[in-house]
Amino acid sequence: MAIRRALAEWRIGIVGLGYVGLTTAAVLAYHGVKVTGVDVDAAKVEAINRGEAPIYEPGLNKLLREAIERGTLYATTSYAPLREADIIFITVGTPSLSDGSINLGYVFDAAEKLADALAASTAEYPVVAVKSTVVPGTTRRVAGIIEEQTGLHPGRDFGAASNPEFLREGRAVEDTLNPSRVVIGGIEPRSASQLKEFWQSFYQRLGTNPPILVVDNPETAEMIKYASNAFLAMKISFANMLARICEKITGCDIVEVVKGMARDPRINPAFLGAGLGYGGSCFPKDVKALTAHARSLCVEPRLLEAIDWVNETQPHHIAKRLEELLNTLRGKTVTILGAAFKPDTDDVRESRALALAKILAERGARVRIHDPNPKALENAKRTLGPIAEYTTSMEEALRGADAAVIATDWEHYKSLNPALYTRLMRRPLLFDARRIYDPQTMKKAGVEYHAVGLGGDPK
Ligand SMILES: NC(=O)c1ccc[n+]([C@@H]2O[C@H](COP(=O)([O-])OP(=O)(O)OC[C@H]3O[C@@H](n4cnc5c(N)ncnc54)[C@H](O)[C@@H]3O)[C@@H](O)[C@H]2O)c1
Repeated sequence: MAIRRALAEWRIGIVGLGYVGLTTAAVLAYHGVKVTGVDVDAAKVEAINRGEAPIYEPGLNKLLREAIERGTLYATTSYAPLREADIIFITVGTPSLSDGSINLGYVFDAAEKLADALAASTAEYPVVAVKSTVVPGTTRRVAGIIEEQTGLHPGRDFGAASNPEFLREGRAVEDTLNPSRVVIGGIEPRSASQLKEFWQSFYQRLGTNPPILVVDNPETAEMIKYASNAFLAMKISFANMLARICEKITGCDIVEVVKGMARDPRINPAFLGAGLGYGGSCFPKDVKALTAHARSLCVEPRLLEAIDWVNETQPHHIAKRLEELLNTLRGKTVTILGAAFKPDTDDVRESRALALAKILAERGARVRIHDPNPKALENAKRTLGPIAEYTTSMEEALRGADAAVIATDWEHYKSLNPALYTRLMRRPLLFDARRIYDPQTMKKAGVEYHAVGLGGDPK
């Protein structure tokens, strides 16, 4: 039986205070839920307790600061306080192993460390909810680990459920306040109903009331997350494949093609933008993990492999186009505009901009990287090291460059005066790999404009 209680009576634990965990913790605590956040990174924990978010997400710092001041959020490296939690969300990372399959080490480590707190739990029915993106079967394995360590019975002494996260970096706070849907799959009905009750009371308080979808089991919920990400990644790779064809056809433009496609009510234009490919901490690893999981189940994952292949080769394709335009990359100064894997984030994990920078440098170009977000630039520098120069100044980035590439579609670049390119660059060759500019406007301004998915001008 689900327990009816006020929002402030819930005790929530969150294990792993990264993009997902910290955002969830700050949003809940800001709205009065008592949250204990656990992370193995002591420096991160200290920063959070000072009210400083170690990551950049619009709106996060304010929520975090107020939650810490009100005392509704407390971060720690100790799992012991989780004994009071009614629900413990696992939000640790699930990166790729070298063969592309998922590394569940952090999830299982969290499960082992949680065991003692669960054995000493003061909650009526503590539920462990896996929010990390994990292959189907993982939530049950988490419950199994806790059972082995404590002798507690899942479904009787404690609950477990999959509750995948769909937030988008750069909009993490907004998405947590108003998600497209909440998906829950419990190992038995009580786990699911407890989670449902919590989320329902939270969103009723906010007045956002997203759809809450309770599915029959954790495996279905886990699969919904992979299916969603693989589908969105497929749309991007589809657009990039079409873009390569459009580029070979005089006058053909992928942007117009997609607009025409989207007039069909069955085709949603979201994520059909051609570009440098998808990056970040989710799509690349999730497509690879689902591919490896399919193989382990003896399912031939050809379509999934193709999604990944297009994405992996897209920066090579753009580098080749630049090489053709410049005759050679050797000794040429190429400016990459944008390091973050997408706008409004400092995250450069799997950023296609950095993949392109590496390829260009390997082919002998002098690479400069610009990003309007100093934190993103710092992360890029830490990832790539001395193979490039780094600057947050547009003037420094463009002065004397032989070519520039729009690699991240930051608003900052969209509003630039095209005269900046013609005034500062040695050759105003601009390759728009995110399709942020109108080709005619740029050409009229004297920019040598080329773009992904844009065929040559008719003679
Ligand atoms: N970032 C996103 O946009 C996003 C969106 C949806 C789902 N997800 C999924 O959510 C999960 C977390 O992603 P993220 O981007 O927040 O990761 P992240 O790397 O930003 O954060 C993970 C945190 O977990 C901590 N951690 C690792 N092991 C731990 C342990 N045993 N105990 C306590 N803390 C531990 C790390 O120190 C780190 O702070 C992943 O599975 C990811 O695929 C991410």
